[in-house]
Amino acid sequence: MDYHTAIQQAEKLLFRFPLVTVRGTPLMCHIADNFEKVWAFNPHPSDLLIATYPKAGTTWTQEIVDLLLHNGDSEACKRAPTPVRSPFLEIFSPKPIPSGLDLLEKMDPPRMIKTHLPFHLVPLGFWQNKCKTIYVARNAKDNLVSYFHFDRMNQTQPEPGPWESYVNKFMQGQVGWGSWYDHVKGYWVEKEEKNILYLFYEDMKENPRREVERIMKYLDLSVSDDVISRIVELTSFKSMKENPMSNYSCIPAAVFNHAISPFMRKGEVGDWRNCFSPEQSKIFDEDYEEKMKDVDIPFRDHI
Ligand code: A3P
Repeated sequence: MDYHTAIQQAEKLLFRFPLVTVRGTPLMCHIADNFEKVWAFNPHPSDLLIATYPKAGTTWTQEIVDLLLHNGDSEACKRAPTPVRSPFLEIFSPKPIPSGLDLLEKMDPPRMIKTHLPFHLVPLGFWQNKCKTIYVARNAKDNLVSYFHFDRMNQTQPEPGPWESYVNKFMQGQVGWGSWYDHVKGYWVEKEEKNILYLFYEDMKENPRREVERIMKYLDLSVSDDVISRIVELTSFKSMKENPMSNYSCIPAAVFNHAISPFMRKGEVGDWRNCFSPEQSKIFDEDYEEKMKDVDIPFRDHI
């Protein structure tokens, strides 16, 4: 059964799932219920982890990595939609939707594994086996805006409520996968020790070629300049929005309602300016200063 059909069959069991806190982090209830299985996952040393806070550029990075691993072969990368090519480690949904672990079990390493788990919830096997890990971070305000629209369209995420209260929930970490602040810091402080490639969405927008090359080097790959150019083109926002294997049209409308807000929404840096009032921005910035004062992560909210 393909992924789309499995979700359709589970449709009656899908609703806006409540969050349940696991070791300090709110997670969708099905993930929380199965967390011990996720925690016990033992990756192969050749597996690659792509870790992000939700809406920071996960899908974009998955597509770049898949194309790099396939030497820019766009047809090979259309073999299946993103969540099947690159399983979502912790996802658990009602049956018959396969969990991330179900999909991973059927694949041979090296596998390209996605996670939104904060650092402290990533199964220890990833570090014990020295798996390569790419972390992508996005500035807080754009990340928040993107998450707000995603929570409107994804009918299995908690109801976002009005914008004003959503900003507060985000600041307090009362959203799926918890605090953005703790998430970006958790990987930042471990990046040298754990050999994590820490990327920024804004850098990818500013100079995608430079960032594709960074990923290539980190993965010990070598592809030609022409192939890099092709990968940059194939992973532009426009190309990915038109590609049914990367635009999440694989998820039925009962779950991802693209009519409310498309998954490939805007793909810009600085969209927060269209959403935050000057007053909200000031409150957010003051709180941000306080929460981020112990680290110096070079976020940019404009390029
Ligand atoms: P917006 O909602 O701001 O448009 P994730 O994959 O982590 O869920 O992140 C989704 C966000 O990344 C969305 O942001 C989406 O539009 C953006 N995105 C996806 N592919 C992109 C690309 N190729 N270039 C730029 N942004 C992209």
